[in-house]
Amino acid sequence: MRIVLLGGAGYLGTVATRHLTGLGHHVTVVDGLIYQRGDDPARLLPSASAFVHADLRDPDALRRATTGVDAVVHLGGLVGEPACALDETLAVELNYASPVLAAEAARTVGVEHYVFFSSCSIYGSRAGTVDEDTTPNPLGIYARTKVLAERTLADLMDDRALTVLRLATVHGRSPRQRLDSVANRMTAQALATGRIPLNGGGQRRPLVHVADVADVLAQVLATPTAHRIFNVGADRENYTIAEVAGIVEKTVPGSRIDAGPERDEADARDYRTSFARLAAAFPSACPTPLAQGVREVADAVEAKELDDPDLPEYDNLAGLKNSLANGRIRALRSDDCTRLHADYANAPWSKR
Ligand SMILES: NC(=O)c1ccc[n+]([C@@H]2O[C@H](COP(=O)([O-])OP(=O)(O)OC[C@H]3O[C@@H](n4cnc5c(N)ncnc54)[C@H](O)[C@@H]3O)[C@@H](O)[C@H]2O)c1
Repeated sequence: MRIVLLGGAGYLGTVATRHLTGLGHHVTVVDGLIYQRGDDPARLLPSASAFVHADLRDPDALRRATTGVDAVVHLGGLVGEPACALDETLAVELNYASPVLAAEAARTVGVEHYVFFSSCSIYGSRAGTVDEDTTPNPLGIYARTKVLAERTLADLMDDRALTVLRLATVHGRSPRQRLDSVANRMTAQALATGRIPLNGGGQRRPLVHVADVADVLAQVLATPTAHRIFNVGADRENYTIAEVAGIVEKTVPGSRIDAGPERDEADARDYRTSFARLAAAFPSACPTPLAQGVREVADAVEAKELDDPDLPEYDNLAGLKNSLANGRIRALRSDDCTRLHADYANAPWSKR
């Protein structure tokens, strides 16, 4: 199968590229390498069939990239609320305008299957257990851009196959490592300082291993049907943040939890997620426990495969600050982006 991974040079995309090419697929990665971290496609993506350096807000580049492929996968974006809050206009362009422009291109050139990477963050804060039919409760810019993208893509792709993957928080080792998501960050802190800072920690959050996400993507690509949404993870991998800290403490010898009170600015996301739909469709999905991802990251830090875990290259917020300061990325405010910005401005939460 010929597959294009838009935003495929990131934490998830580099692992997905390795997995999909290992299965014999032809994988083209399109990425603008928006962070200043000396990313070298040859090092990050040794198995990619082709690499294209392009901006995912450029309709011409998107049309070229999607022509002649069997499936388009969109995983480019500004990930996490702290990075999105730094520049809301940019967040809307990367997380909403870009996937919509890619879907418009894919439709024009006749691509049959579009896979969009969304997030369980769209559930926000909910009592009980959320599933794919739960009404989203997006608490910030990141989640709002994802919800809006899901809705517009569903309209745009009409009877073509659209798969939306709402990922749990990802952990584990990748050629393009991120250490800014909860389990990876705690692991790096435990190694660097012997302490795992924990403030409060009662919020519930599902986690999923990065290689399991790549495997789910491969299975989804093999079985396209119209309009499916999947939460990606496993029921037993729902944790509280305090439980995540406990697993890190157990896995990193000599580390201990340093517990303090909940902070005012704490991340309010709190949801327990059902992954029953994914398990019914793909019974072998997401078998990897959190402790394995923690072990992988700890091993990489100990083996000095990751330079200094405090470097901005491992943190999207710090990386974005650098990239904005040196002009590597900025809001384009192009006609296409402005047109799509109006959708965001007119969305229900803007009128609250
Ligand atoms: N990592 C997680 O925990 C997680 C959880 C839920 C959902 N997701 C979703 O999965 C997807 C991938 O996440 P990730 O962790 O790999 O992120 P990442 O930041 O590591 O990778 C994103 C990639 O997209 C590229 N990119 C972004 N905007 C671009 C643009 N306009 N032009 C060209 N390239 C651009 C970046 O250069 C980067 O390589 C995202 O859509 C994210 O929202 C991730």
